[in-house]
Parts: sequence; C-alpha cells; structure tokens
Amino acid sequence: MRIALLGKGKTGSKILELKKSDITVFDSQNRPTLEKLKNCDVAISFLPGHAFLEYIPLLLDSKLPMVIGSTGVEFPVELDTQLKERKMAWIYGSNFSLGVVLTKILIEKMNDYLGLFNERSFSLHEIHHTKKLDAPSGTALSMASWVDDNVQITSERTGDVVGHHALTLRTPREEITIAHEALDRSLFAEGALRASELLNQKKLPFGLHNFQEVMQKNIQDKE
Ligand SMILES: NC(=O)c1ccc[n+]([C@@H]2O[C@H](COP(=O)([O-])OP(=O)(O)OC[C@H]3O[C@@H](n4cnc5c(N)ncnc54)[C@H](OP(=O)(O)O)[C@@H]3O)[C@@H](O)[C@H]2O)c1
Repeated sequence: MRIALLGKGKTGSKILELKKSDITVFDSQNRPTLEKLKNCDVAISFLPGHAFLEYIPLLLDSKLPMVIGSTGVEFPVELDTQLKERKMAWIYGSNFSLGVVLTKILIEKMNDYLGLFNERSFSLHEIHHTKKLDAPSGTALSMASWVDDNVQITSERTGDVVGHHALTLRTPREEITIAHEALDRSLFAEGALRASELLNQKKLPFGLHNFQEVMQKNIQDKE
C-alpha cells in the first residue's frame, strides 16, 4: 500500500516511524499535486484543519481514499454527496486512538442507565499541549455528543500533553469519571494506519465515514 502522507509534524511524523517504506510525504515545502498523488493508493492527512480544507478539491480529483486526522474545522456539508458521486470513501476522526473507540462504547452503555439519577450533571475537562490550535478539542466535542445529556466542556493548554479527556457524571452524593489519557502520539498514527488498511480493502460503502463508528462496526462484525 503506497501512502501519501500530508503533514509530517508532531503526529504525521509518527506514521513515518511506524511505517518506513512506501510513503510520499507532503508539507509546506512539497505541496501535493494531482501528478504527485498519482502513484499512491491511499492518503492520510495530519495537516492543520485549515490547510486540509484548502486541499479538498484536489484530493477529490485525485480519487484517492483518504484518512482525515485534521481537526478544528467543519467539512463542507456537500462532502459526503461529492464522495458518493465520485464513488469514493473517506474516513475522518478527531481521535484515532482505539481506546477512544472503547470510551465511546462505554458512554453509549452508560446512556441506557441515566434514568438511575434524578439529579445529575455532566462535565468534560480536556488538556492538551500549548501548540494545539483548536479548543475545545475535536475529541471533547465528539465525546460530549455521545452523551444523551448536556455536557459542560472546559479546556486547558499546558506543556506537551498529548491528550487527556475526562468525562464526569456528578450527582449530589457521588461522581463517576470516564477518562482517557493518550500517552504517545504514535497511538494516533497506528489508528490512522488501521483506517488506511480498511480503505485499501475497498469494503466500505462510498461516502464520508467516522473512524469510531467504522472501528466499532468492524469489531462487532468479527464477533
Ligand atoms: N485525529 C487524530 O487522532 C489526531 C491526533 C493528533 C493531532 N491531530 C490533528 O492533526 C493536525 C496536525 O497536528 P500536528 O500537531 O501534527 O501539527 P504540526 O506538528 O503543526 O504539523 C503540521 C504539518 O502540516 C504541514 N502543513 C501545514 N500547512 C501546510 C500547507 N498549507 N500545505 C502543506 N503542508 C502543510 C506542516 O508542514 P511545514 O512544517 O512544512 O509547514 C507540518 O508537516 C491538527 O489538526 C491536530 O489537531 C489529530
């Protein structure tokens, strides 16, 4: 599988560490073009969100399956339709950690039992490194959207924290916290490579897919 890697910064460089061959790297000095993308099978983006948005028309024209790790921007509403019209499949994810897939499953299970608590509130605290451009993080927004209730999100930027997310259910007399800590950025690279393998097998329907949903279904289908 020949990979076009868009962005080799803090996260993209981990793809290079995990997979040393068959990768063409693009950054500000070597920008992607149709000609340069021609010999690749799949593309992975760890560009900043605004840079990824710029390249969407080019990437649609390239016809490449795409794994989008870029966060902090909204994709055009017509993207899913455009992909289906071109018979293409892309996977996006605010967090390619497999532990966050499990976190989603735990939150969905919790939703079934919220009726246990008459008085409850949810809060989510996320911590990231000081260079992160978006706040709240894409993962915090996704996690909050998985809860069948309002969630108050707070963000903290400090040091080189890779990613900490803690969702707390508080009642007048108790607290339950579901927390995920990313220890190493290669975690995201590993998940992005798993997603690129799934795309390369060409078994996904055309359109825009969410990473957590794809992985959740993939595991359920195997059981
Ligand atoms: N989905 C996930 O699991 C996950 C995990 C971690 C991070 N992220 C997201 O991934 C993105 C990148 O994060 P990062 O911390 O790795 O960023 P980073 O260290 O700043 O790296 C960004 C990379 O993008 C390149 N780039 C920037 N603008 C470009 C342009 N216009 N054309 C071509 N290349 C360009 C940079 O190249 P130059 O140095 O040459 O400018 C650099 O290689 C962010 O949106 C972040 O939130 C996602």
